[in-house]
Amino acid sequence: MSALHTTNNTMRTTSIVRIRNESPTVKTFTFIDKLCSKAKPGQFLMLWIPGIDEIPLSIMDAGDNLVSVSVKAVGDATLHLHTLEAGATIGVRGPFGNNFTESRGRVLLVGGGTGIAPLFFLAKQLAAKTERLSFVEGAKTKDELLFVHELKGVCNEKTLITTTEDGTVGLQCMVTQPLAELLDTEKFDMIYTCGPEVMVKKIFEMTEQRKLPLEASLERLMRCGIGLCGSCVIGKYRVCRDGPVFNAAQLREVTEELGISKLGFDGSRIPL
Ligand SMILES: Cc1cc2nc3c(=O)[nH]c(=O)nc-3n(C[C@H](O)[C@H](O)[C@H](O)COP(=O)(O)OP(=O)(O)OC[C@H]3O[C@@H](n4cnc5c(N)ncnc54)[C@H](O)[C@@H]3O)c2cc1C
Ligand code: FES
Repeated sequence: MSALHTTNNTMRTTSIVRIRNESPTVKTFTFIDKLCSKAKPGQFLMLWIPGIDEIPLSIMDAGDNLVSVSVKAVGDATLHLHTLEAGATIGVRGPFGNNFTESRGRVLLVGGGTGIAPLFFLAKQLAAKTERLSFVEGAKTKDELLFVHELKGVCNEKTLITTTEDGTVGLQCMVTQPLAELLDTEKFDMIYTCGPEVMVKKIFEMTEQRKLPLEASLERLMRCGIGLCGSCVIGKYRVCRDGPVFNAAQLREVTEELGISKLGFDGSRIPL
């Protein structure tokens, strides 16, 4: 009899190897998973927290049989995950979705909140290959700015701009403010973004006005992760299957929903 074939959609149980506190509300969980350890920046996985729920998470790092996700505690599943310790059992499916394309030349990454996680993964991969890598990172407050120290190592200090809404560190403004100046004064071959969709929408408008290329990673409610259930639709796309990374041409097709509304789990439309 042949052994059962494991695909990326097969649920694998594994255990947490390492947990790191990134901020008062965000922890990074590292676990062994052969398939996800081969993931590319932009892809996501479905993490099963036994007895609670299964949730989509961006892959923050992968390699050497290990995969890491950085998770903000916001509700049942994520709060429970935060109570687990190294050795605890979890389940994983994935990696799912597409990835950011690898651009050479001058690249700019713009992230907010936990949207920094996939961009940090991308920055590490692009650092040695690009002519110049700039990063604009924003959060509500200093404590919530993720991976600042590590990003300084990847980008060098001059090209890392941090913003906080309360001014506790960096510029006191939204990420979009220093971005306008950067886009008007420097030349970029590609702009990558991930974060709250209202932020992504603003960045999309700014790059469109200047006719600049953009790739944005979007979030929608996800259940199956493989294009079957329809809970993650945006326009004609299913974010789990066709994304989560979308280019400017695709974003132009979904402007009626981008940063405006998404489907809730009961199928009703909820404002963003
Ligand atoms: C592709 C993708 C990548 C993501 N990457 C990250 C990440 O790297 N780090 C991180 O902290 N969070 C990430 N999220 C969001 C994360 O999935 C939700 O925070 C999590 O599902 C919340 O579950 P909960 O039970 O703790 O909270 P709940 O109380 O159930 O929900 C809190 C909020 O989280 C969102 N949410 C809940 N369930 C889902 C779901 N199944 N799919 C999408 N959103 C949901 C909803 O907006 C909801 O209002 C990502 C979401 C997507 C779609
Ligand atoms: S999550 Fe089911 S179709 Fe995308």
